[in-house]
Amino acid sequence: MKIVLFGPPGAGKGTQAKSICNRYSIPHISTGDIFRRNIAENTPLGVEAKKYIDKGHLVPDDVTIRMVYDRLEQEDCYNGYLLDGFPRTVKQAEALQYFLSSRKECLTTALLIEVPGSFIIDRMTGRRVCLACGASYHIKYNKPKVQGRCDVCGSDLIQRKDDTEDTVRERLEVYETQTAPLIDFYKSRDLLRTVDGTKAINLVFESICKILGESYDNIKK
Ligand code: AP5
Ligand code: MG
Ligand code: ZN
Repeated sequence: MKIVLFGPPGAGKGTQAKSICNRYSIPHISTGDIFRRNIAENTPLGVEAKKYIDKGHLVPDDVTIRMVYDRLEQEDCYNGYLLDGFPRTVKQAEALQYFLSSRKECLTTALLIEVPGSFIIDRMTGRRVCLACGASYHIKYNKPKVQGRCDVCGSDLIQRKDDTEDTVRERLEVYETQTAPLIDFYKSRDLLRTVDGTKAINLVFESICKILGESYDNIKK
């Protein structure tokens, strides 16, 4: 299983990625989570990435692509992985195709979670995240068992700095101009599958499992 998960900010990529990766026992590679961990640890990569993330802009392609290549070369990726939030530009998508073809591998599917902009502000401003394990919650739609604590690892939950209304609007704009072209990119390669992300979290997951089961069967044939 080699899955690309994409969609606008707040579509539910991180939420669904956790469940998919549990079910298929593959690593969850979220470029946003890797950047945030580096920012928390104040590494050179974190210092560079923070300049862009806080404004809702994309981190430059060369920095991001190098980071993902390093990650995909690690041993736990041999049997597959889920990429959450990468690629996000056509240049990144081409770099991923290049990486895969140089190893005679291919993507299983590129899964788009579709959610209209009108849902997004409510989802983002109510989101709380765990920096330690990347889990995300919502104060109305996906409450943690104990307020302010992560169900998975017990760490404190925080509100992301880029989850203010203004930054979210900027991220939506960036999505439309820079990431939405991936829809045609993957459609033309017959890899695109789309799921309606406005339904409840468990129903979205059911639709995704169905799509992944079918994509996987096609590859085995
Ligand atoms: P990243 O962390 O990837 O942010 P994003 O794409 O904006 O997406 P989010 O993580 O905000 O949303 P999500 O789809 O994961 O939604 P979630 O599941 O949390 O990237 C952050 C930044 O890093 C970027 O802006 C950029 O600067 C940089 N970056 C990252 N990757 C990069 C790349 N490849 N190139 C360049 N720069 C890059 O859900 C949202 C909320 O809704 C939660 O509260 C959740 O509980 C709730 N929710 C989820 N599903 C449902 C549902 N079905 N019903 C109701 N509520 C729901
Ligand atoms: Mg996310
Ligand atoms: Zn956690």
